[in-house]
Amino acid sequence: MAGSSSCRVAWWMSVAAMLAVALVAMAPTACMAQNTQQDVVDLHNAARSDVGVGPVTWNDTVAAYAEAYAEKRRGDCLLQHSDSSGLYGENLFLGSAGGNWTGSDAVALWVAEKQWYDHASNSCSAPAGSSCGHYTQVVWSNSTEIGCAGVVCDNNLGVFITCNYSPPGNVDGESPY
Ligand SMILES: *[C@@H]1O[C@H](CO)[C@@H](O)[C@H](O)[C@H]1NC(C)=O
Ligand SMILES: *[C@@H]1O[C@H](CO)[C@@H](O)[C@H](O)[C@H]1NC(C)=O
Ligand SMILES: *[C@@H]1O[C@H](CO)[C@@H](O)[C@H](O)[C@H]1NC(C)=O
Repeated sequence: MAGSSSCRVAWWMSVAAMLAVALVAMAPTACMAQNTQQDVVDLHNAARSDVGVGPVTWNDTVAAYAEAYAEKRRGDCLLQHSDSSGLYGENLFLGSAGGNWTGSDAVALWVAEKQWYDHASNSCSAPAGSSCGHYTQVVWSNSTEIGCAGVVCDNNLGVFITCNYSPPGNVDGESPY
């Protein structure tokens, strides 16, 4: 992973690209080779459409926040939330080292929480250690703008991926849609 440490990963597919970079020791310019922000937006919108909620769009300001925070976690890869003082909602993902993780993997994991969410009662039956909160943020109807970023952490610690949501969802006592 050492070969990727000087390179910022702004977009999802760049995480995969950087893993490849680490393997073949190519130039850092390959880091920005491709992005899958549309994939991430599309996966959000598929989950939202499934329950009759309108789409999200990518917002560069929100994405810049996500990117700055991902950069902060590069050294420790801690699954720890940022503090936007209520400005944004946030979903985090941590992938094991060496995995070819993309933003699509992160969104798929969050959306999988749908199995535990009961909309009629706005309640969650997730097992200990799991929640429905990532899913409810994905489908939160008022959260219409997103931005995401990821980094391959230093020292083989894994892959950290974050999405931010504006306005924030998961408002206590309210239903996502
Ligand atoms: C990583 O995954 C992406 C998307 O699934 C794929 O296109 C790419 O070839 C993979 N890269 C490596 C190094 O496995
Ligand atoms: C993007 O998000 C920022 C911060 O939340 C907001 O001020 C801005 O209006 C948004 N941009 C667009 C094009 O909606
Ligand atoms: C969405 O925003 C409206 C208007 O600001 C507010 O009344 C409503 O409670 C919000 N709904 C959710 C689910 O956050």
